[in-house]
Amino acid sequence: MQARARILAEIEQAGGWIPFARYMQLALHEPGSGYYASGARKFGPEGDFVTAPELGKLFGRTLARQLAAFPRILELGAGSGALAEVLLETLDCDYLILETSSELKERQRARLGSRVTFLDAMPADFRGAIVANEVADAIPVHVVSWQEGGIFERGVGPGLAWADRPAQGELLEAARAIPVPAPYVSEVGLLARAWLRHLVESLAEGAIFVIDYGFPRHEYYHPQRSSGTLMSHFRHRSHADPFARPGGEDVTAHVDFSALTRAAQDAGAEVLGYATQAQFLVNCGITEVLAESNVENALRYAPIAAQAQKLLSPAEMGELFKVLAIGRGITGPLLGFTRGNRVHTL
Ligand SMILES: C[S@@+](CC[C@H](N)C(=O)[O-])C[C@H]1O[C@@H](n2cnc3c(N)ncnc32)[C@H](O)[C@@H]1O
Repeated sequence: MQARARILAEIEQAGGWIPFARYMQLALHEPGSGYYASGARKFGPEGDFVTAPELGKLFGRTLARQLAAFPRILELGAGSGALAEVLLETLDCDYLILETSSELKERQRARLGSRVTFLDAMPADFRGAIVANEVADAIPVHVVSWQEGGIFERGVGPGLAWADRPAQGELLEAARAIPVPAPYVSEVGLLARAWLRHLVESLAEGAIFVIDYGFPRHEYYHPQRSSGTLMSHFRHRSHADPFARPGGEDVTAHVDFSALTRAAQDAGAEVLGYATQAQFLVNCGITEVLAESNVENALRYAPIAAQAQKLLSPAEMGELFKVLAIGRGITGPLLGFTRGNRVHTL
């Protein structure tokens, strides 16, 4: 069944309303019909969006300098397999992937072959580095509307239209803790918090690197960001209607890094660092990686310099993307946070 029909049927069965988080789960991840679970191109110039590993090898080769400290890497949500391919070229380590989309898992298997171990669930007592690049933004969010008359959960009604109900339980509690001026609409990432707690519980020793676009809480719920951060991506164009093409395009929300930090700390982990992507990559030595390429050969150098510009520029990914590292049993500072660590802003 197509995603739209599948979702409309579920709304009807549920009595005319489902939470937005359930809509996002069905639109993105439902086996067979969800955006990530179906055969659309998604990544790269011919797809809907370009992630840092899809730009070229520079991101992976730089990140490898941080990951070299770990004997084992577990990548979550590996997409086309581009990052894994570069890390495997650069590092000598065990490489594991946990991917929720069986369609993408097949693509990754075809690209990476037997060098990778594919997991179906988090292993117990993992020791090593866990990397999630642009995974947290794909985890379904709840949508909340703060009104003069109370706090409402925004869900989806018949015909795929927004429909509000009084917020309840954990969502109400989380929304009450966020001081915003009504009327105000935004997302609350309850499932992303649970996801990180689960990762922390599975980590015996090592670090989790969450790399994504987002903000600390005071910027996320800034009075001026009064309609939230939900965004859909279709063929390199972004728009704000999550119901336009269910199953046919990406729907994302920015990441509340303060909420992830609290969740990790509650689960017993330490925050090892938080920095902009630009600062993190500079600390890891992106300029040295650039210098290793053939500067004399303009034809080869120009595309690599263009990657650096995209990864580092404040107008591109440099400032909006952040790197959060959470850990257990790690002594000494991590390379990527030697300067410009902004943990105090979380
Ligand atoms: C935006 S893509 C990013 C892909 C890749 N990391 C990159 O940077 O190009 C999101 C990826 O995360 C996967 N994914 C979403 N939720 C996940 C979860 N809870 N655990 C593991 N993978 C997940 C998707 O199937 C997809 O591969």
